[in-house]
Amino acid sequence: IPVAPFDAVVFGATGDLTMRKLLPALYTRFRDRQIPEESRIVAAARTPLGTGEYRDLAAAALERHVPATDRDPDTVTRFLDHLRYVAVDGAGDAGWEELANLLSEHPDHVRPYYLATSPSLYGAICRNLSAHGLIGERSRVVLEKPIGHDLASARAINDQVGKVFPENQIFRIDHYLGKETVQNLLALRFANTIFERLWNADVIDHVQITVAETVGVEGRGGYYDTSGALRDMLQNHMLQLLCLLGMESPLSLDADAVRDEKLKVLRALKPIPAHEVPMRTVRGQYVAGAVNGQPVPAYVVDLAEDRSSLTETFVALKLELMTPRWAGVPFYLRTGKRLPQKVSEIVVQFRSSPFSIFSDEFAREPNRLVIRLQPQEGIKLEVMTKEPGPGGMRLRSTGLDISFEETFNQRYPDAYERLLMDVVRGNATLFMRRDEVEAAWAWADTLLNAWADRPEPPRPYPAGTWGPTAAIALIERDGRTWHEDIG
Ligand code: BG6
Repeated sequence: IPVAPFDAVVFGATGDLTMRKLLPALYTRFRDRQIPEESRIVAAARTPLGTGEYRDLAAAALERHVPATDRDPDTVTRFLDHLRYVAVDGAGDAGWEELANLLSEHPDHVRPYYLATSPSLYGAICRNLSAHGLIGERSRVVLEKPIGHDLASARAINDQVGKVFPENQIFRIDHYLGKETVQNLLALRFANTIFERLWNADVIDHVQITVAETVGVEGRGGYYDTSGALRDMLQNHMLQLLCLLGMESPLSLDADAVRDEKLKVLRALKPIPAHEVPMRTVRGQYVAGAVNGQPVPAYVVDLAEDRSSLTETFVALKLELMTPRWAGVPFYLRTGKRLPQKVSEIVVQFRSSPFSIFSDEFAREPNRLVIRLQPQEGIKLEVMTKEPGPGGMRLRSTGLDISFEETFNQRYPDAYERLLMDVVRGNATLFMRRDEVEAAWAWADTLLNAWADRPEPPRPYPAGTWGPTAAIALIERDGRTWHEDIG
């Protein structure tokens, strides 16, 4: 569906996110004819550059980050024609008049302001936008994470932005919500009566969410070292997955209907009491090892200057949701850098019956629903079946398997493609509302405070392994195991 003509202003236009994600996403939407011809992408950053020079940078970024099969020189040239560059000092005075003049050429255009900068600039940029009369009904502001590093700092950012933009014009991105398979969670749960009826503590034994990465900190050590795995992945992406998995049915797909239900999940997160924190959470940090057969250095070496650090690159924890649907069901979450495989998946494990007509010789596996978010997106229901042959009732767990790639045989758009177009459309369903972000921080803060009160160095794990052994003990202590396809 084509969108209204827009002037998208990207602050932080020379940065990594713009080059790696935003320009490729905009290019791909342009190639698919979703960007109206009159639209412009206004790149803004402090570096003094001309539009021609910026277009060269953008062309190089597209070459690096868009697969050759999705690129053709003519379309790239036509896309680059839509780019303008303005040198703007987000926190100072320089460049704002020029930006205002450029935008005044199309007063009727939708105006997304994308803040791909450090969050410390969000307040200043918003103040400047307002002071230069650049905010109208058709303006929206897009905020990248991290929105703060704890509840107090998140509130401060939300206050500053909220002074000049009403909440319905603020789009807080969590790019996991733009992933096709994450949206598929909504379809799985609310378009399939069979699952919805089983989706509760009577039937479900526990849930696992794993988001594993093979990469290290990829030159982002400066940011990452002040953040760590809990703030970087769990407080946002993984809690959002938990929300979609755990929420009650919204009454519609309207932004507030969905976000109201997600908020209830976040508010139902049971704080982990300080004395249980050592048993229920594991912090790890990678040391030298090998990933996919390639030797890789330790985290502290990746940090550019070789130094010690107490930041966790892995976290595993057990949490609970205090809702009628979920009370008593443990959720085990783990995420880390430099693990053996890039994989994100959710495993819903159903309770086993204590009674069996089958011989104990063939251990029964519990039924599991495995939702594979990336890569090899799909859904698998693990069921017990009889092995063929005359040798008696030999049972084996096998999968009823839907591979999305085989079923739909089409390209999966990058999360940013969907989300950027949703901003232009003004559809906030897949964006986080202020109260959600703050509820997630309120829960994360209890954990961060408990860690800070009893500081312990993270447990080392060799790169290319599934984290510290304590993460295995965390779940095995409860008589359960991490899902073995990946564990
Ligand atoms: C980002 C984190 O939000 O998500 C990164 O800051 C992480 O550290 C990335 O690598 C993972 O995203 P994806 O889409 O590759 O799973």
